[in-house]
Amino acid sequence: MSITLSAVNLKKNYNDVAAVRGINLEIKQGECFGILGPNGAGKSTLLKMIYGQAIPTSGDLFVLGLNTRDQMTEIKARIGVVPQDDGLDTDFSALENLKLFATYFNMEKNSAEARAEHLLHEMKLADHQHMHVEALSGGMKRRLVIARSLLHEPQMLILDEPTTGLDPQARLWIWNYFEKLKVQKKTIIITTHYMEEAEKLCDRIAIVDQGVVLDVGTGPELIKKYIGTEVIELEVEDQKNYWTSKIKNLDIEFQEFESKLFVFFASIDQRQNFLQHIQNAHYLIRAANLNDVFLKVAGYQIRGEA
Ligand SMILES: Nc1ncnc2c1ncn2[C@@H]1O[C@H](COP(=O)(O)OP(=O)(O)OP(=O)(O)O)[C@@H](O)[C@H]1O
Ligand SMILES: [Mg+2]
Repeated sequence: MSITLSAVNLKKNYNDVAAVRGINLEIKQGECFGILGPNGAGKSTLLKMIYGQAIPTSGDLFVLGLNTRDQMTEIKARIGVVPQDDGLDTDFSALENLKLFATYFNMEKNSAEARAEHLLHEMKLADHQHMHVEALSGGMKRRLVIARSLLHEPQMLILDEPTTGLDPQARLWIWNYFEKLKVQKKTIIITTHYMEEAEKLCDRIAIVDQGVVLDVGTGPELIKKYIGTEVIELEVEDQKNYWTSKIKNLDIEFQEFESKLFVFFASIDQRQNFLQHIQNAHYLIRAANLNDVFLKVAGYQIRGEA
């Protein structure tokens, strides 16, 4: 598969804030590539450099074989963008928003209108096409922005938290829609705070924090590497100190999370041994998932709190 995006020591400073601090990345043609990271990690800044809303401070960034430094117009014509903030024009209806956007791509009027109507239908917005954007629900707005990103039939999609704020049904429906775009071999770059979304859609995932890529791999690779196959969630309540020192003595890996300890095992023997020690405790055994990886790699503290 050919490389369709490459970032080389890419950096972005906003005055004295280093939002992206040297990212190296290669994304393949037709791949669905996920970017995970806590609030403020630099995900949106990275995407903004890809779609030309932020200019890199240094480093190189090539998109679809074109240099973002001087070929941004060509890049913009070939990528579809769902920004984190919708950027819809609230003075206009859903359909008018799409028609207005089509003018930026010099689309012929009749074909733009036909394409807009088709996409509104696809996004289940046909009945709301004449409604003012202000009157649409959050989920409808998000679907409208997805329709907008597809207007000019882009080769690559840049999706910044496309399903944030949607109800579970709408999210499932949109995932299903993205699966169809994957079948069409469109390259998709997506950020999300929903680990399930990343696990379901993404061929590979980068974990980003404080402006750098901490690791890249497929979901199963990352889970195997950092966690293993299983996690035991041990409920410790007011006996946290007792349990943490006990598990440390057994030389077993664990993470504290509120009143629970998440325990991971290097071997089946270690797991069996641990089960002997917790016979009378409250615990749950479950499959390891990407959430465990994220919490382990990017840490448990909430960003923005002291
Ligand atoms: N226009 C800007 N001016 C100044 N600082 C900015 C600007 N945009 C982003 N930042 C800062 O850059 C850092 C990275 O922000 P960014 O929006 O890229 O994070 P993010 O990973 O997308 O976070 P979230 O998950 O909350 O969307 C943060 O410290 C943020 O405050
Ligand atoms: Mg963001």
